Amino acid sequence: MKFESTPNYDELSRRAARIIARMLIRKPDSVLGLPTGQTPTKMYRYLTQFGQQGLVPFQSVVTFNLDEYYPIQPDDPKSFHYYMQKHLIQKISITTDQVHVPEGTATNEEALQRRCKQYEQAIHDHNGIDLQVLGIGENGHIGFNEPGSDFDSETRPVELSDHTIDANFEDRANPPRRAITMGLKTIMHADRILLLASGKRKATAIANCIGGEVSKDNPASILQLHPSVTILADTEAASQVRA
Ligand code: GLP
Repeated sequence: MKFESTPNYDELSRRAARIIARMLIRKPDSVLGLPTGQTPTKMYRYLTQFGQQGLVPFQSVVTFNLDEYYPIQPDDPKSFHYYMQKHLIQKISITTDQVHVPEGTATNEEALQRRCKQYEQAIHDHNGIDLQVLGIGENGHIGFNEPGSDFDSETRPVELSDHTIDANFEDRANPPRRAITMGLKTIMHADRILLLASGKRKATAIANCIGGEVSKDNPASILQLHPSVTILADTEAASQVRA
């Protein structure tokens, strides 16, 4: 595990965007696993800038998002479809067939399970993910793999914890209580992983991810078993990591 602390959020975002840019310049048809949330927003801003300056080729990239709420429509501003449109897709030259986000629109459990299996299969069909970018929840979740998730889990429907709902929705009126997420096994199969964390509220999760016991109670701890992980944390998020 490689751990790097950056002086601030801006540096973290620029550094993360550069890692992705380098990957795309070297291998333009890379398969990227992408996160949502507040943490990566500035990384997407830098990446967009690099694209607009013609520095990064997006024509052949394929992307798979980590997760999506369920049930949700793609045009709902709370959805991760909407987030990706707003922060990346509308701003770079990329077509919709290059972009994959789990569909939160299934109308029954059977269709939901089927779509999850198809999503996992689509990742395999693209020969897996070259670079998986992750954020981290305060309780150590990655994607929506909450504490207790199986280490051999694949893309599946999950229940969200109250903690995650509180962290993700200021407005608690009718938040989605379920989601679709890549599993821990799906994430671990990526060739390379880049995890980003910013701010004091992530400090415990980062310390436990790096130095805590590898356990289902702390999903991010599984990354200790991956051969190629880089963790980028700003000073606040890095503040509890022991030298
Ligand atoms: C959500 C997402 C995660 C993300 C986490 C942290 O629950 N499912 O993939 O890493 O939130 O988000 P933020 O960056 O907003 O703190």
